[in-house]
Amino acid sequence: MGVKQYQFPEGFLWGGATAANQCEGAWNEDGKGMSVADCSTYKPNVDPKDYVAQHGITGKQVEEAMNSDSTELYGKRHGIDFYHRYEGDLDLFQEMGFKTLRVSIQWTRIYPTGLEEEPNEKGLQFYENLFRAMKKRGIEPLVTLHHYEMPLYLANHYDGWYRREVIDLFIKFCKTVFARYKGLVKYWLTFNEIDSVFRHPFTTIGIVPDRYPKEKLEEIIYQCVHNQFVASALATKYLHQLIPGAQMGCMLTRTLTYPENCHPQNMLLALKTNRENFYYADIQVFGEYPRHILNDWKRNNIQVEFGPGDEEILKCHTVDFVSFSYYMTMVASIDAEKKEKVCGNLATGVKNPYLDVTEWGWQVDPTGLQYALIDLYDRYRKPLFIVENGLGSKDQVEADGSIIDDYRIEYFRQHIEAIGAAIEDGVDVMGYTPWGCIDLVSMSTCQMSKRYGFIYVDVDDLGHGTYERRKKKSFDWYKKVIATNGADLD
Ligand code: BG6
Repeated sequence: MGVKQYQFPEGFLWGGATAANQCEGAWNEDGKGMSVADCSTYKPNVDPKDYVAQHGITGKQVEEAMNSDSTELYGKRHGIDFYHRYEGDLDLFQEMGFKTLRVSIQWTRIYPTGLEEEPNEKGLQFYENLFRAMKKRGIEPLVTLHHYEMPLYLANHYDGWYRREVIDLFIKFCKTVFARYKGLVKYWLTFNEIDSVFRHPFTTIGIVPDRYPKEKLEEIIYQCVHNQFVASALATKYLHQLIPGAQMGCMLTRTLTYPENCHPQNMLLALKTNRENFYYADIQVFGEYPRHILNDWKRNNIQVEFGPGDEEILKCHTVDFVSFSYYMTMVASIDAEKKEKVCGNLATGVKNPYLDVTEWGWQVDPTGLQYALIDLYDRYRKPLFIVENGLGSKDQVEADGSIIDDYRIEYFRQHIEAIGAAIEDGVDVMGYTPWGCIDLVSMSTCQMSKRYGFIYVDVDDLGHGTYERRKKKSFDWYKKVIATNGADLD
């Protein structure tokens, strides 16, 4: 077919990505406490452009979730039963040649409410077994400490990340897992998509919007994310102390925004929109708030309380690498009101006429990945890690049991080419972990039918099915890509 060959660096970390709350299931087993993820409901019919309907939650809905045992309505509770089936899944990842697998540790398996004095041994043991099983297969764990799964107790009784004490509770959790998994885990991430706090505050910082005065919400969210920045810096500090040689990354949703055209006002709008996305990583990489955010606070009378020493903590404990998810690009326009809109689970924006959209309305843009990589590297000069990227789609199981997902192969081919081209352009890329390398429950709508994997899991949206795993056509294709270190993308 004549696909251009790219040279990926020796030791490039090819693999896949998951999050515990979307795949483990076993939501109330072995002492696990309830997390915010256990409250998110199955929403098959929401208009993807209706952002609030997709992500919003009320205090009443949280109460209902707490009083319900349903795993049909609350899909993350069943996941794909990774908790009991991880050995078989790791065998498949090993067969594909994975060098790394991104997983997360559910805080609620270790400290069920966040407050306990002693950790839950069964939870600790589970992750120890998991990491050992990965190492045995030559798969390096890449572990997220906080992936949309904070203890519900803290959301309900500590106003999520608003209360300062939550930093200490989180650091207690971090120190516990660093001490336990020293020697097993080298690569860590603090907060998944830390920039999502305004888009879905409940999943990220445990804030249920209708519990607070509307006019105070922005300030509350800024305070929560400030506390997360401090927690991220402290986690980095203790990681470096407790596991010498280990590396910490921040994790950003790279929502690259183009100007609609070269109208100077559109250029400026796109620049400012991108700057707002960057600010979260700026703090974790440069160790200080950019002035435009501080000015914004002044203008809008937003009071964010800094604890004594916060500035120094941020400055002294910056991250070792920058990781990000990449799914789509956006367009900014000064005439946005009059324009057709598109969406994603991440943002809404003006439609880009040059791009196709997925069944869920996400704009597919491989070139944007090359752009994002160059841009991020020029800004931060730190190694980059693409820890999420992928195509959510409905897959068809043929009569003979095969799943011919050529659309997924094409998607990955183009995105991997973009990474190869960025590397050729001088960007330092550590690795690539496509999202949902095995089908799992969707973060935004709890659908199982929105599938990302190289491996099909026989579960429907309500959690019914055999949970049997099956290789899709893309499985063998990705295996070949890894085996040739990205040289053969045909
Ligand atoms: C990212 C999240 O935003 O997007 C993942 O980190 C999520 O948790 C992924 O699953 C894809 O989104 P969705 O809504 O299709 O599952």
